[in-house]
Amino acid sequence: MSSSTYGTFPGARPRRLRTTPAMRRMVAEHRLNAADLILPAFVREGLSEPAPLAAMPGVVQHTRDTLRKAAVEACEAGVSGIMLFGVPLEEKKDAAGTAGTDPDGILQVAIRDVKAEVGDDLVIMSDLCLDEYTDHGHCGVLDSAGRVDNDATLERYAEMAQVQADAGVHVVGPSGMMDGQVGVVRDALDQTGHEDVSILAYTAKYSSAFYGPFREAVGSALKGDRKTYQQDSANARESLRELALDLEEGADMVMVKPALPYLDVLSKIADAVDVPVAAYQISGEYAMIEAAAEKGWIDREAAIRETLTGIKRAGANMILTYWATEVARGL
Ligand code: PBG
Repeated sequence: MSSSTYGTFPGARPRRLRTTPAMRRMVAEHRLNAADLILPAFVREGLSEPAPLAAMPGVVQHTRDTLRKAAVEACEAGVSGIMLFGVPLEEKKDAAGTAGTDPDGILQVAIRDVKAEVGDDLVIMSDLCLDEYTDHGHCGVLDSAGRVDNDATLERYAEMAQVQADAGVHVVGPSGMMDGQVGVVRDALDQTGHEDVSILAYTAKYSSAFYGPFREAVGSALKGDRKTYQQDSANARESLRELALDLEEGADMVMVKPALPYLDVLSKIADAVDVPVAAYQISGEYAMIEAAAEKGWIDREAAIRETLTGIKRAGANMILTYWATEVARGL
């Protein structure tokens, strides 16, 4: 035995596999692919120029035109999908969020635009939630006491599912965290001849401070919080309960959101399921890295890569990220 100073197993030197970039690349357990990535995109009614978002440098509210271009660019970069969020005219917001179920509402129009542009080359997904359309900013309709009414909201979600599917979306993403939403959306799709439209369920969606910049992005009017329907960050086991319900109700894919503060939840869910698992790197996760990079405090590209790799390592097959196109181009 050699008289080495690194222990009694002189053959075991993990550092040998870290010696060169080529070696590190060869032994990598996880690799990001462009196809892992999904681009979330905002389209705002009535815009003539794209509107930059102060808290998300590099992200804009698109016009109908620039959205089409962004979809083509994502597609050419090899990104798999696009998740669309509609921002209606301010005066179209009301208590029931009717712009969300108008066949000519901004999201439905955008789905048709993108479909006409890229067809089936990109998986077209849509946010199925009322917060972009309600004047009070909640994800559902309110009862007479001002509380979010679960079952009345489900009826609205069923209508949204139908109009989004009629517009040609491939996947709907119910994100409002109402109990029973996946089952109701599945029924609505099946009863309207949209058996092939898939559901990406926001299964574990936590009430998070990191949604801050998104509220600006969709011009949300919310005062207060969503703590009576989104999950409490203290709970991990609860996500498995949400998961069981979503799968029973017919979820085709499940999602964890936000990503970085909930990698343990992502990992638990990925271990538990036999359906594809997505994670959403949300607006505040984006803003943190962009802000630190702008100050010169962090290496932007390295930080982006590291967070995305971490999300993949934790078990995500698919990652929604505002950097999707940029990262896909660099892979
Ligand atoms: C709800 C919805 C939200 C996000 C996606 N869908 C906001 C919320 O629940 O408060 C957040 C996305 C992000 O922060 O990037 N329609």
